[in-house]
Amino acid sequence: MTLKIGFIGTGGVAKGHMANLAAMEEAQITAFCDLQQERAETAARDWPGAKAYTSIADMLDDQKLDAAFVCLPPMAHGDAERALIERGIPFLVEKPLGVDLELPRQLAAQIEEKGLITSVGYQWRYIQSLDEAKRFLESGRIGMTLGYWIGGMPGVPWWRVQRLSGGQFVEQTTHITDMLRYLCGEVVEVYAAYGHRVLHEREEGADVPDVGTVTMKLANGSVATISNACLLPAGGKTGLEVFTDQGVLEVQANGTRIIRKNGDASAPFDVTPNSRVFEDIAFLNAVRTGDPSSIKSSYGDSLKTHEVTIAANVSAATGKPVKL
Ligand SMILES: NC(=O)c1ccc[n+]([C@@H]2O[C@H](COP(=O)([O-])OP(=O)(O)OC[C@H]3O[C@@H](n4cnc5c(N)ncnc54)[C@H](O)[C@@H]3O)[C@@H](O)[C@H]2O)c1
Repeated sequence: MTLKIGFIGTGGVAKGHMANLAAMEEAQITAFCDLQQERAETAARDWPGAKAYTSIADMLDDQKLDAAFVCLPPMAHGDAERALIERGIPFLVEKPLGVDLELPRQLAAQIEEKGLITSVGYQWRYIQSLDEAKRFLESGRIGMTLGYWIGGMPGVPWWRVQRLSGGQFVEQTTHITDMLRYLCGEVVEVYAAYGHRVLHEREEGADVPDVGTVTMKLANGSVATISNACLLPAGGKTGLEVFTDQGVLEVQANGTRIIRKNGDASAPFDVTPNSRVFEDIAFLNAVRTGDPSSIKSSYGDSLKTHEVTIAANVSAATGKPVKL
């Protein structure tokens, strides 16, 4: 069964999904929508018969799609999801869900009411060795977790503006927060300290904090600290480490490593080729079969990750801990 698929937003991350879909026989991208017509047209040229649009409504009125990929910047969410929910079209949406809580909460309620299949772009959940990692964590007691996303500033212009991106913790470090929830359970309280060290002076219009540390309490009694920075000129460090009475679990974007209590380390560091491929396969499987069980990150679940990252922003702004 061929699935007719539409893209809303055809920028950087969309290209990654398109490349994955190009290798899947059952996927046929027939529609590309972008505010920038040229981008939509360029994308459409790679898919015979596909059409380019600059209006989401025109695209959805013109074509009967089986599924959509929503690859919009954080401030641009709302119209796309509402149009897809209204028409009952399953969608995969990129993280973060938005720049506030109100819109994602409204959309989550509408999705739930419709029973619509959704997936959110938390591809770290599809790292192939995470099942083993979870079993390791279940074999002992989690004490604490340290997470980090320390690097430079991404090139897209909206990223550096707080009201457009939500800032690094909401936009980027959300992957680490999501991994913390996936592996260690729900976060019940956050306290954040952010700083503006360099970027606001060096980059015109940049107002996102360029350093931050967020301390968290989890429902199971463990604690976590997730730190981020986007001021490095090169290099960096991204991942999380879970410290337990049975050893240590290290997670990075491309795999995991377990250091067991007898000192044995799983070696070499497991390398998942491209976890986004598994995310896309799971979504298309769910659309084809109507069974969402292979999707590891639904809209409703992702909302909880988003709530933690927004709470961090609130805490940093008020100087007070926020309970969830
Ligand atoms: N899962 C991941 O690891 C990952 C990696 C990169 C980006 N992302 C996420 O993907 C999202 C997009 O990032 P990107 O790097 O592709 O951004 P981008 O700026 O490269 O692309 C976004 C595209 O959306 C278009 N657009 C904006 N508003 C629109 C609207 N209302 N209707 C139609 N098109 C519109 C823009 O013209 C642009 O072409 C971000 O939320 C980002 O966090 C996720």
